[in-house]
This record gives sequence, structure tokens and C-alpha cells, in this order.
Amino acid sequence: MSSAEPRPFRSSKPAAPLTGQAGVAGDKSISHRALMFGALAIGTTEITGLLEGEDVLRTAAAMRALGAEVEKLSAGQWRVAGRGVGGLTEPADVLDMGNSGTAARLLLGLLSGHPLFAVMTGDASLRRRPMKRVTDPLSATGAQFWTREGGRLPLAVRGAQDPLPLDYRLPVASAQVKSACLLAGLCAPGTTRVVEPEPTRDHTENMLRHFGATVAVEDTAEGRVIRLDGQPELKAAPISVPGDPSSASFPLVAALLVPGSRIRLTQIGLNPLRTGLFTTLREMGAALKIENARIEGGEPVGDIIGEYTALKAVDVPPGRAPSMIDEYPILAVAAAFAQGTTRMRGLAELRVKESDRLAATAALLEANGAKVSIEGDDLLVHGNGAPPAGGGFVTTHMDHRIAMSALVMGLASAAPVTVDDASFIDTSFPGFAALMNRLAGQDAIRPA
Ligand code: S3P
Repeated sequence: MSSAEPRPFRSSKPAAPLTGQAGVAGDKSISHRALMFGALAIGTTEITGLLEGEDVLRTAAAMRALGAEVEKLSAGQWRVAGRGVGGLTEPADVLDMGNSGTAARLLLGLLSGHPLFAVMTGDASLRRRPMKRVTDPLSATGAQFWTREGGRLPLAVRGAQDPLPLDYRLPVASAQVKSACLLAGLCAPGTTRVVEPEPTRDHTENMLRHFGATVAVEDTAEGRVIRLDGQPELKAAPISVPGDPSSASFPLVAALLVPGSRIRLTQIGLNPLRTGLFTTLREMGAALKIENARIEGGEPVGDIIGEYTALKAVDVPPGRAPSMIDEYPILAVAAAFAQGTTRMRGLAELRVKESDRLAATAALLEANGAKVSIEGDDLLVHGNGAPPAGGGFVTTHMDHRIAMSALVMGLASAAPVTVDDASFIDTSFPGFAALMNRLAGQDAIRPA
């Protein structure tokens, strides 16, 4: 598990460009939801391509602890025998959600709607992250929460005996908060209504429909309004999990930065609320192509082809943040190789991710000779079109995306880049180093 011994890793320029094709790890957001909704459905849900990263394994363990039968059949292939909406049972022990904010927050939504008592904790990173953003709205269902100072984990929850439907306007653009409210709404009678000021990833809405729930979505002057009809009978349905576009962004940016590279990443999720990075990279001049575009299980998927490009700086508007919220660290790395100043606007939410990602991203670039500044909630990266020096030692702060971004930087910088601990990569992208090394044709990423 990721809290064991730190695993320092180092990356350096491969002798040859990145070439070939590869699939990436399954989508983390969809994998969590597949297990949770499978546990609430009547019947047996068959899942293929499930991400077997530590975050998702925490969700699998939690759903088992709440009474669902969750079974791994073979690599990526899982089966969940559900208990029906409202059918989860009290866990006998503390639910440990490890490093996963998504697992913790979505599960709190589910627990709110069940008349049971549960205690939740997580690792040192998750125990620092704000939970009030979900416990505040969820309290209106009738659920009660007892948290540490500042609304942090560990916390205890007593779910509502007769949960009330919520009517909530999100104060921040967060798919996790939206999903927590909708999951609580499954157990309540009547209509649960959530309004989001900016649209965020809609995997919850898509998958609820896939399982037979009625979800209406309307764009209005006050924002995107989502209405869920409560107490539906969810029916088990097969789920094929696409490759995670957030994970794909690491090999993709590596190919854009290492001269001569050209790679194809197969069967990647292309939900338009997840593809802000691809839009931004195109604006920077990147040659990205999508082929074999199709819809699978209610989600768009396709192959992404990326090749080396001399990138130019770009101004990324704040409204794009929800569609690329996890991609700013790797975009910042790309920006360090681009010509000119890239400004990424409106990144306040990065401060409450697995680490303070705004600070950690700036530190990762600075350690490797790139010029950066933070102005309010904006991150500025000043590139001159040449590879930064590299040679830095990067502290990852228990953050998988900081670790992967730093290791990608080392593939294209003048000198190798070292990270203090690559173990957290396993939370979202087990096999990351092996996949990168396969594309690079040698061990360009290895233990330090
Ligand atoms: C996620 C939503 C995002 C994202 C996280 C996964 C989800 O968080 O950062 O990795 O699966 O709903 P927020 O919605 O809180 O921004």
C-alpha cells in the first residue's frame, strides 16, 4: 500500500523517441461509480476494464463492508451483486478510503441515505482535505456528521432514517459534491435537485441513466440544473470502463515533448467534460488526432494520436478548469517547454487536491529550472521554447499526479528528474512506468 516505504524514482531522456501504441489504466471516476452503483442495483453487474488502482480498491472494499458482493474474476473483470437502493448494511469496522477524495465524498452521499452508523478515515493526504463541502449539503437529508476540526476525516456519520431530497446549488464546481448529493437523493422520495454554476464531469448522471434511473439535465440562466427522481429501482447493467483521459495525458504529453515521437493511445474516454487538456494542447499547436470515435456504455471513446510538436504558450480561461481539473500539473510541464508565457486562470480548487497542487506544481517546475509565478489563483509558466535544465529533486506530497508529471518532465529535460516517492502512482495508474518504458523502448523511468 502507498503508506509503506517511499519509492524514489528517476526519469531521463530516452535514446529514441516514444513510438507504438498502448491502452492506459481504466478511468478512475467511472470505476468508482461502477462499483458503487453496482452495489445499489438489483442483479449482477459485470464490469470490464475496471481500474485496479488503490483508490478504486478502497471503494471495492467499502462496498463489501456495506454488504455488497464484489468479486474479481480476472484482470479488470469484476462482478458486483447489488443490494438494491437503500439496501446497504452497517459496516462492522472503520471505512478507510486511503488517498481517495472521490471514494470518500461519493460514499458519504450513499451513507447519508441509509439508516446506519459508520466511521470513515483516510491517509494523511485525505485527512487534510475538506469534507464540509459534502457534509454541509448532506446534513439537509437528515444525516448527522461528527468531524474533526475544519470538517476533516476521520468522521462519523449516522445516515437518515427517512432521508429528505436535496435542493442544492454548488458553491464550487465539483463533480464529487454533485455526485454525493445525487447518491443521497437515490434513497430519498421525490426529486433531488442540484444546480452547478459550471458543468462538471457527468459520469454519475450517465451511469444512473444506464442503470434505469430518471435524470433530467437542463441548462438555465442560473447554471446547469440536474433533477433525479428518488428511490428508483436500479437494474444491473454491464459496464465497460474506457481508458482514463487523465492517465492518457502523461504518455501523450511525453510524446509531444520528446522530439521525433508519435504514439497512439487506444480506447480513451472522450467525455467532453474531461477533455479540456486536449483542447488546450491543440491551442498550443499540438498535432492531436482522434480516430475510431464511438459511444460505449453511454460514454464517448476513441484513440488519440499524438506526436512531437514545438508548442507555443496559451492563455487558459478559468471556465475550462472543471474539464481539465486534474491535468494542470502535466499542462504546466508542457508549458515549460513552450515558447512564451502560459497563464492558467482560476486554479483555487487545485489547493485542495491530493496535495496543494498549485504550490506543488510550481515547486516541481522551479526545481527543474523552469520559470514560474503564482498570481492570485493563476499559475504562470514562462517558457522560451527550449527544454528546461531538469536535474531537480521533486517532493510529491503523496500526490500521484505530481509524481507522474515530474517523471514526464525528466523524459524531455536536459538532465534527469528524481521524485522522492513514486508509490502513490499506484492509486490511479498502476503500471505507469512499465507503459512509459515500453513506449520509450528502454527503462527511461526507473527506481532511483
Ligand atoms: C472526480 C472529480 C474531480 C477530480 C477527481 C475525480 C470525480 O474532483 O479532481 O480526480 O470522479 O468526480 P472535484 O469534482 O472535487 O473537482
